[in-house]
Amino acid sequence: MEKIGNFEGSIHNADYDAPYLAKLIKSDSLIADCGRPKESLNGQWHYGVDQYDTCLRGKWFEEKYFDGGGRRYPLDYSFDTWDTMNVPSCWNTQSEWYFLYEGSMVYTRVFDYKNRGEKRVFIKFGGAANRAFVFLNGEYLGAHIGASTPFCVEVTEQLKAVNRIIVVVNNTRRRSGVPLDNTDWFNYGGLYRDVDIIRLPGAFIRDFTAALKPDGNFNKICVTVGIDGAESGAANLKIGELGIDTRIEITNGRGEAEIAAAPELWSPDNPKLYDVVLSFGEDSLSDRIGFREIKASGTEILLNGESVYLRGVCAHEDSVVNGKAVSEAEIRENYRLAKEMNCNFMRLAHYPHSEAAARIADEVGIMLWEEIPVYWAIDFGNKAVFADAENQLSELIIRDRNRASVVIWSVGNENADTDDRLEFMSALAGTARRLDPTRLVSAACLVDHQKLVIADRLAEHLDVIGINEYYGWYEPDFSKLPRIFENSRPVKPVIISEFGADARGGHRGTADELYTEDNQLDVYRRQIDTLGGIPYVRGTSPWILFDFRCPRRLHPLQNYYNLKGLVSGDKRHKKPAFYAMRDFYEKIREAEAK
Ligand code: GCU
Repeated sequence: MEKIGNFEGSIHNADYDAPYLAKLIKSDSLIADCGRPKESLNGQWHYGVDQYDTCLRGKWFEEKYFDGGGRRYPLDYSFDTWDTMNVPSCWNTQSEWYFLYEGSMVYTRVFDYKNRGEKRVFIKFGGAANRAFVFLNGEYLGAHIGASTPFCVEVTEQLKAVNRIIVVVNNTRRRSGVPLDNTDWFNYGGLYRDVDIIRLPGAFIRDFTAALKPDGNFNKICVTVGIDGAESGAANLKIGELGIDTRIEITNGRGEAEIAAAPELWSPDNPKLYDVVLSFGEDSLSDRIGFREIKASGTEILLNGESVYLRGVCAHEDSVVNGKAVSEAEIRENYRLAKEMNCNFMRLAHYPHSEAAARIADEVGIMLWEEIPVYWAIDFGNKAVFADAENQLSELIIRDRNRASVVIWSVGNENADTDDRLEFMSALAGTARRLDPTRLVSAACLVDHQKLVIADRLAEHLDVIGINEYYGWYEPDFSKLPRIFENSRPVKPVIISEFGADARGGHRGTADELYTEDNQLDVYRRQIDTLGGIPYVRGTSPWILFDFRCPRRLHPLQNYYNLKGLVSGDKRHKKPAFYAMRDFYEKIREAEAK
């Protein structure tokens, strides 16, 4: 008979996590939830720092307190007398004890439930870093892998009047992870995004998309609908402001329609959003959606048919106070700073930021590059790693494909041009196009520093070629940069997805003194002078809007921060290079306005 605690079952089973990982929660778990009533499970959750994964090894979720004869077992846990921590948050910012903690954290709380006539109930997690094992009332519901994308679990069968939910969150870095165990950003951990209960009727809208038909005419809206719990029937789409009130036939649980319409087109200067209501039977969704077209044509990027320069900047999902659990106010501050720098574009690096980031970008008018963390030396030959990456990409696209602000899906960053990588990332590009044929696909590629040319083989599979280059910093010989552009003949638009230099805020010196603002400014001036003259460079997103935490930066001037920000980490201090970019972008904007 299997015993608990320190008995054979948990002490001899080295592969204790295999049965858990055999039940993965994937992108098909997602449910469209915009405008749905939700009940929050945010708040104070009890937690236990579980370095040795004893909860999973010992199956604590079973809460076996007595043996067959009613004799009490000694327990190594006590859920409801543990300390509490706020959800959503990163445990790293909740106590100095956990600042550098990497491993498992057991989260648990109790909540009441009373049926109000709904037939199906789900719990949605906005994001848990990096793995989450979910249990309800002693039952294992599955594991989600991926620190930055949402997932749902159905709990209809498991719910009781009083419920215990347990979520074991693990942020151990792994060689076979996506990202892998070496990144240039801080590895936060925790239940750091919202947790909500969603009540649904027997038949409900599982997914829907609404976008302008990308045929250059700007006069049709394409809608697709996926129904769960009914094979046939009719959905109804309303866009009051456009006089649209259309029936959409559902067959085999799916429906689609092409509706004649002439919406005001969304753009950063005119972020027009429409109220869209979709209903099916007892179920309905509402969303605010902008309609625009984004295309690549030759080496041009066309927004609503007009050539546009992507005046951008990169940003991490990081905050001095909240870590990765950034607040809406912090997201708005990032966009406000970017707008002050005359940006119309932001590269959200290197993983999906919160859903709010895209919704707010829709509202304030910033185009977005969204990316999955296929970063540096991912284990490209490993099929399970591909499945993980593809799943994260799918979850991102399913979550944000109705966001007008999102114009580019990026399948990765700075990977060596190997055969395995080419196969891996070109397949991801295919997945992105299959899930969403209306946007551009890109990746941040490296130049060939020997031959001084843009020659990444992945470019063939991309719509826009992202190029990261650090001439003037990691590559001190700046004279090579213009030669790269002379030697290259791309037939697609190029975005310089990263360039920059570290500078400690307020640290002044001469232009060749590293880590000074003067050196950073000098690098920016030379970059701007070079990049501004390259016809096929149709966008730039310097690295990076604000300084961010990074365990790889041990120089005393850095103090575990990457200092390439144009603004300090607390966003209070703008470095001189910020103004250089602002003025560069002002010139481009004026030229485009003519
Ligand atoms: C790389 C990388 C970033 C990193 C940056 C840097 O290009 O993509 O993640 O932070 O360089 O070194 O500062």
